[in-house]
Amino acid sequence: MSINTKITGVGSYLPETIVTNAMIEDILDTSDEWIIKRTGIRQRRVVKDETTTYMAVEAAKRAVENAGIKSENIELIIGSTISGDVSSPAIASYVQRTLGCENVAAMDVAAGCTGFIYAMATAISLMETLNKNTAVVVASENLSCRSDWSDRSSCILFGDGAGAVVIERSESNSIYHPVLHAIPDTDDVLYVASSKYAHPWSKDIATDDCAIRMDGKKVFAFAVDAVEKTLNELTELCGDKPITKIILHQANNRIIRYAATSSSYDKDQFFVNVDRLANTSSASIPLAIDEAAREGWLKKGDVVALVGFGAGLSYGGIIIEWAI
Ligand code: ACO
Repeated sequence: MSINTKITGVGSYLPETIVTNAMIEDILDTSDEWIIKRTGIRQRRVVKDETTTYMAVEAAKRAVENAGIKSENIELIIGSTISGDVSSPAIASYVQRTLGCENVAAMDVAAGCTGFIYAMATAISLMETLNKNTAVVVASENLSCRSDWSDRSSCILFGDGAGAVVIERSESNSIYHPVLHAIPDTDDVLYVASSKYAHPWSKDIATDDCAIRMDGKKVFAFAVDAVEKTLNELTELCGDKPITKIILHQANNRIIRYAATSSSYDKDQFFVNVDRLANTSSASIPLAIDEAAREGWLKKGDVVALVGFGAGLSYGGIIIEWAI
């Protein structure tokens, strides 16, 4: 990139309601022990009254406040979700409306759980192309309402929440080496169907099935391969500037542990909050950044690899130097 950018603010929103594994034991044939052993997940946050839009707006507001900027200075908003309240408009448009920014470009990207990485890459590219100074990238997911609560192999995995960052132009560059990839999901191993009406001339039938469907074993195999490839690629691109911290999409602690074992990095360099928040799809990386920053796990000067993977099958990563 020829313009210099950095993250100047971060924020998140989590619903208050906590659903523990024990609470799922009450409704399904599963156990806390099985879930922890296969996923590392102990509990998840789920919406009660909140919507995907509400969480996106709250996370964005907090990021803007954290950056210490005025909403009217935002010039670009990129959203990411697989669980929007509406198919159109974008959550970015609702964030614009609520924050009251008049003159922005606002759109969402749809790249499954890799959405935040694609959104970051899109934001820094558009900041350059459109000559913008300040952007908000926000990812928000309401997966509890996209889970089939009779399917014990998938509903145990997901949680709700939103995270956002503010990106501003800066003197030196702290966001670089975006790498975006996708391989065809020819077997439909991971997708979320849309509900639809059928018109009188179509052979299609109306459906209200909009639950997350996946082949867990195939997704696992794809995920560990994608993480390994992306970390290797980022490591090579960073050259003699070592990556100090790694934030992976928080899909499953087994995937994170596997990545740590198969890489040259130490397990302590990997951030983990999937045990408490479960898999929040594209919101998991900004949620992790916010928590890691607030808890002091991220230190000024850290060279952080963000790595995502998900439906598509998309995957990718980006480097951020922590500068707050
Ligand atoms: N509780 C108890 N038993 C269960 C549960 C459950 N919640 N779910 C499945 N089982 C049973 C199955 O029925 C099966 O029983 P059987 O042997 O009698 O047929 C047994 O456990 C083993 O099932 P598998 O599906 O083979 O279990 P696996 O070891 O593959 O674990 C899991 C399933 C956790 C989903 C794993 O495949 C996985 O982690 N995959 C990655 C998926 C993922 O992270 N997806 C996230 C969304 S995609 C993304 O974010 C990129």
